[in-house]
Amino acid sequence: MYISTKAMFITFEGIDGCGKSSQTKRLLERLNDEGIKTILVREPGGTPISEEVRDILLDKRSKGMSNRTEALLMTASRAQLTHELVQPNLEKGNWVIADRYADSTLAYQGGGRKIDLDWLIQLNHFATFGIQPNLTFVVDVMPEEAFRRKTGENDRIESEGILFQNEVRKKYADLIKLFPDRIVLVDGHKSEEEIHNTIWEELLRRKYFNEKK
Ligand code: TYD
Repeated sequence: MYISTKAMFITFEGIDGCGKSSQTKRLLERLNDEGIKTILVREPGGTPISEEVRDILLDKRSKGMSNRTEALLMTASRAQLTHELVQPNLEKGNWVIADRYADSTLAYQGGGRKIDLDWLIQLNHFATFGIQPNLTFVVDVMPEEAFRRKTGENDRIESEGILFQNEVRKKYADLIKLFPDRIVLVDGHKSEEEIHNTIWEELLRRKYFNEKK
């Protein structure tokens, strides 16, 4: 069992199908089992209002959506989630894990849709009330591998295809260079177990919690 030194905000990022969602669930279970109260949220979505925004964003009938509208709706969903769940939980001392957060907007709307990064950084700043993750894991896989793993129908953004995902992946690589202290790259081609262990070791290395005596 552990006691945390302070409430941490940890986000998971990566292209579609990179395997981050199973990692968020594993980390959530492990932290709660170790005595660290943690919640898991996802984006876009995570609150009733944000889930409605998500439906508009991912619906294939929204194919006429402009890139700017997409960026605004992604960040609108984020503002509601931050207001309802992220900020209040961190204030209570709970840990928060997010399956995607502000970096997704930089990677998808910046890398994929080619919107100027400075605009997106400002939008994110507004939507997050200035809250930044303490630590971000980018689960990195080749787009071809991510597509191979895919089951079920593609949503509007997944339908953009491999070239789009490649641009998103490149932007994540740029973000790692821009924020080397916050963002950690993990190799998504490894087994689920190995990836989880790498993530856990990173938390231990950063001394985010101490052993309960
Ligand atoms: P989702 O089904 O949650 O994808 P995943 O399981 O890969 O996380 O769909 C979310 C989609 O929205 C995904 O294609 C990434 C995209 N997205 C953006 O384009 N910008 C954003 O800011 C966020 C949060 C997500």
